[in-house]
Amino acid sequence: MKQYLKLDEWSIIEEGFDPHNHEISESVFSIGNGFMGQRANFEEQYSGSSLQGSYMAGVYYPDKTRVGWWKNGYPEYFAKVLNSTNWIGIDVDVNGTSLDLAKCTVKDFVRVLNMKEGYLSRSFTAVMEDGKELKIESVRFVSIVRHEIGSIRYSVTPLNFSGELTFTPYLDGDVKNKDSNYDEKFWLEVFKEAGQGTGALTIKTKKLDFHVTSAMFYEILKNGEKLNLDAEIIEREKFVGNRVSVQANEGEEVSLYKYVANVTSRNHGLGQLVEAAREVLNTAVQAGFNALLSEQATAWCDKWKESDIVIEGDVAAQQAIRFNIFQLNQTYSGEDDRLNIGPKGFTGEKYGGSTYWDTEAYCLPFYLSTADSSISRNLLIYRYKHLEKAKENAKKLGFTKGALYPMVTMNGEECHNEWEITFEEIHRNGAIAYAIYNYVNYTGDFAYLGQYGLEVLAEISRFWEQRVNYVPAKDQYVMLGVTGPNEYENNVNNNWYTNRIACWTMEYTLDVLNYLEQNEPERYTELVGKLNLQEEETTKWQDIINKMYYPVDTERDIFLQQDGFLDKELVQVKDLDPKHLPLNQNWSWDRILRSVYIKQADVLQGLFFLGDRYDLDTKKRNFDFYEPFTVHESSLSPCVHSILACELGYQEKAYEMYLRTSRLDLDNYNNDTEDGCHTTSMAGTWMSVVHGFGGLRVKDGVLHLNPFVPGHWTSFSFKVMFRGSRLKVNVTDKEIIVLNETDIPAAISLNGKEHTISGMGDVKVAR
Ligand code: BGC
Repeated sequence: MKQYLKLDEWSIIEEGFDPHNHEISESVFSIGNGFMGQRANFEEQYSGSSLQGSYMAGVYYPDKTRVGWWKNGYPEYFAKVLNSTNWIGIDVDVNGTSLDLAKCTVKDFVRVLNMKEGYLSRSFTAVMEDGKELKIESVRFVSIVRHEIGSIRYSVTPLNFSGELTFTPYLDGDVKNKDSNYDEKFWLEVFKEAGQGTGALTIKTKKLDFHVTSAMFYEILKNGEKLNLDAEIIEREKFVGNRVSVQANEGEEVSLYKYVANVTSRNHGLGQLVEAAREVLNTAVQAGFNALLSEQATAWCDKWKESDIVIEGDVAAQQAIRFNIFQLNQTYSGEDDRLNIGPKGFTGEKYGGSTYWDTEAYCLPFYLSTADSSISRNLLIYRYKHLEKAKENAKKLGFTKGALYPMVTMNGEECHNEWEITFEEIHRNGAIAYAIYNYVNYTGDFAYLGQYGLEVLAEISRFWEQRVNYVPAKDQYVMLGVTGPNEYENNVNNNWYTNRIACWTMEYTLDVLNYLEQNEPERYTELVGKLNLQEEETTKWQDIINKMYYPVDTERDIFLQQDGFLDKELVQVKDLDPKHLPLNQNWSWDRILRSVYIKQADVLQGLFFLGDRYDLDTKKRNFDFYEPFTVHESSLSPCVHSILACELGYQEKAYEMYLRTSRLDLDNYNNDTEDGCHTTSMAGTWMSVVHGFGGLRVKDGVLHLNPFVPGHWTSFSFKVMFRGSRLKVNVTDKEIIVLNETDIPAAISLNGKEHTISGMGDVKVAR
């Protein structure tokens, strides 16, 4: 664990340059706007270790699968969001020597991610080999107002000499992915053009024909005055740039303003890309850097109004929660229903930028509460649009009907290629069904069920119907050969969570059918026809629900994670020599699989999702049994435990778990932040605060809150949107105040007592 970042309520601050931390910082200081994202790579040349990353949302490459032993049913490719044109590049030469932080002495280095206003800045003094000193200051952002625009102000001041500064602003499409399966480059050049102060480059992917055009414009100012300079034009394969020199006296500041438009064929016709990029670029240039930056600040201010969490009395916690919210808002804006949330967002290559069950199980609640319901609806529609592919996927695996959603996907097709996950970690199908329930329960948008929801639910239920088998001797259904959420056990029989979520899906599907028959009879008939749904199918679902086998330990009165769980050696994590942890870095996979240790919530994931159906004692007995065997080696684990611990009144445990998730990347807790931030688990951190410490639940259309102030905090407040109203919940040791910031009245239950808060009104209760 490395703690080198400074504490601050609104910013992430790195002081002093340590190349060993650079790749971690490149992840942490990433900027994005839902449509593109950029790691905190340096603008100028850097010959030290770095993971270059400029990502365009939805622009991916189907990289041919690489496995040792092919198994029938494996996908042909793994989709990865590509490292795309390096649009930030500005090389700097001082009297012929390149500025490179790996080759000069760096003083007073400060890197700041300003989360309040949405930009990244950097300043430092470089002492070149010949003793020349330069002050460098840069500011860059990708606009959340103009989704295709990124801009940089890069200033150089000679501190102890007068001489020639040469700048090379460029666009470079000759980039690669570090995770390329066959070490190939994925881009081909289509078009390039460079003029004085301008450049445009179009590259396309070798497969799927995604085109990306970047267009740049720059201007140079000395002491605030614009200069007219002749530039040398540089063009080579997949590269355009200008090389331009400026004479600067000691103390004179030379600033280069670089504006870039990045447009893709996802949003523009192939023939119109260059024109579109130029148009977008021109309007940004006309607005000017300062205006762009100030509209960015205003837009971020609006976002914070919807989603900020304020924590008093603990700066580390305050910084962490804002960092998590900031990264989530940078990753997904919800305006494009073809996009989704990769586990690393736009901060690295790991997980390929593809979609996992993380979205439905962990991210959806954040967007439900902090954005208009159309945003979370779009996350659901993404899966609706993939339904046909999910049906094909089920067919490919030998099922005669139904849908199996992929473990990992970009366009609906499965990308994952480990049999124990691809074929067996099928609980993901349940999370997709659960998200429909979660969305409808939270928003009250029952119309969604008839429009899209039922079709997905019915096809998932059809899958479960075939995946279980009936055992006549037991007169029960079982489910064999699965991997539950705990990936530290594979190919187990009767994973309680999977059996439970399967039956829950069938129950909910039957409820929804019933609801539609009663409330939307015409649509019901239409859908039954479209789905060709037979009575024998629904009867079968009911039979499975009635006769499903669930493993239990009657002695402890707990649900069993799987049939063989109690045959394991039951040594708790606290009794394990800490030198073995993390297990995934110290033990063979074989040893992990045979052990009792649990990677992430499994039975407890079920008790969390289906919280209404289990009483506190049941939750307590299962929590007390499973948590001590849990190593939380998935970043998605601590949040579920934190929320359950809150409900059980285990406040210390809740806080301990919360700490493990909230500063995961800022403190590089898992030693892997250089690969990218754990973006989807950030939504889990948000849930730990709002669903955990805030006790938020929605039951029968009413928002329930049951908050307490944890740990070292003196108070905290959070905002949630609920059915048109926006509520600010402020919790101190003494009282809870819920303020309605909109004109729409809200019905809530506070610590078990119902209140209606009128528009702009509030309710206050003593604790
Ligand atoms: C977890 C999965 C998760 C994936 C991506 C894995 O380590 O076990 O549950 O979907 O990471 O975040």
